[in-house]
Amino acid sequence: MESSGKKVTLQLMLAVGAAVIGSLQFGYNTGVINAPQKTISAFYNGTWIDRYKEGIPEASLTTLWSLSVAIFSVGGIIGSFSVGLFVNRLGRRNSMLMANVLAFVAAALMGFSKMAASWEMLILGRFVVGLYSGLSTGFVPMYVGEIAPTALRGALGTLHQLGIVIGILIAQVFGLNSIMGNAELWPLLLGFTAIPAVLQCALLPFCPESPRFLLINRNEESQAKNVLKKLRGMADVSADMQEMKEESRQMMREKKVTIPELFRSPLYRQPLLIAVMLQLSQQLSGINAVFYYSTRIFEKAGVAQPVYATIGAGVVNTAFTVVSLFVVERAGRRSLHMIGLLGMAFSAVLMTIAMALLDKVDNMSYVSIVAIFSFVAFFEIGPGPIPWFIVAELFSQGPRPSAFAVAGFSNWTANFIVGMGFQYVEKLCGPYVFIIFTVLLLFFFVFTYFKVPETKGRTFDEISAGFRQTAGAGAGEKYTPEEMNSLGADSPL
Ligand SMILES: *[C@@H]1O[C@H](CO)[C@@H](O)[C@H](O)[C@H]1NC(C)=O
Repeated sequence: MESSGKKVTLQLMLAVGAAVIGSLQFGYNTGVINAPQKTISAFYNGTWIDRYKEGIPEASLTTLWSLSVAIFSVGGIIGSFSVGLFVNRLGRRNSMLMANVLAFVAAALMGFSKMAASWEMLILGRFVVGLYSGLSTGFVPMYVGEIAPTALRGALGTLHQLGIVIGILIAQVFGLNSIMGNAELWPLLLGFTAIPAVLQCALLPFCPESPRFLLINRNEESQAKNVLKKLRGMADVSADMQEMKEESRQMMREKKVTIPELFRSPLYRQPLLIAVMLQLSQQLSGINAVFYYSTRIFEKAGVAQPVYATIGAGVVNTAFTVVSLFVVERAGRRSLHMIGLLGMAFSAVLMTIAMALLDKVDNMSYVSIVAIFSFVAFFEIGPGPIPWFIVAELFSQGPRPSAFAVAGFSNWTANFIVGMGFQYVEKLCGPYVFIIFTVLLLFFFVFTYFKVPETKGRTFDEISAGFRQTAGAGAGEKYTPEEMNSLGADSPL
């Protein structure tokens, strides 16, 4: 008898596939602005000339372009904060369906910006698609996690990350001059967002609502059962039902911790610091300087075909995401994160050397390609995937949603700072811009070495017990029994 619930049914594949279109959209819009920077800048210039009868000042162009890139993350901040407003009211599936309104609006704004000779529309469109992406980064992992059988939860969960990097790669290929990254077709390149949105709208109505939402939020037990039967392809789903009920009981036992409470309680200080610092290490590593600006970086480094080098970076990125899926569960999180940070720091030094010696030594442009490729590869080994799932491991059910909100906010804010600031800093520092990332990477390496505990193979209780010890020993503070419980202590209940 088939009892393990490991079967990948057609219904499950359809639902996961439809959901990760949202991840793909996020990746696509992260990568899409990279290759056509020159072309779209020329459009800004042309529009400026039409309006003011003079060429665009260099500084205004830098500002407008940085804003076009980085406003995406402002949308992301707001979107990721709003996830909770939708998922518990509309349900997970309908939230994903509704979010596509944003994708269509954004596609129209960006796609028609050239026709309307308006960079304002493009920038607004980037903001709206940022909203969509921020929502998606909450909706998709939640939905996939809730419909996947326990045994496949990790494997299916990584499809979100894979969807993102494949989205980046597609955007880089489409951004080729010969495809859509040219003066005529770039509006199509940006408006392309509408196509996955159509696809998702066509597929989602055939996907089930999350059984966990039906049972826990709506208390519709029989419907939850029916959905589970379809998803699992089995008549007997009592084990899954039992597990969800247990989870629901667990949730009720534990008081929900609000964001202010999270900051106030000394119990959460240590895990919160770690969660935020790891998010910062992901973004301030400089990875999005590469995903937003690599074509320009390669151009400055004297690479003959910078767009192809950018696509190469996308391929390396995708390949190493797949590699990391296999190593993450085997090697420890802490060691992988440290290896990744150190490798990135080394690559950044190599990049600096390549840029500094460009005019003096031959073949330095090839060294810069190697440097960027290894930078991206090391990112996906540790700082890419690990900060996200370590948040879930550091907090129990009660404080977890608040912790995720704070982590998401830190992540998107740092993303914004890099996207907005990179061009200015680059102008200021010239070839030494990657030294800044090196210093930051080494700082995060030292932080991880001293502060981050290994979480692999430890239960949540063991991890939190470790924090209680250090917190208690450090300040000699006393906790209420309630606080102890909400930290996941072995409660007597
Ligand atoms: C803007 O376009 C004009 C006319 O084509 C050109 O001379 C000028 O260099 C351009 N400015 C920038 C900043 O690209």
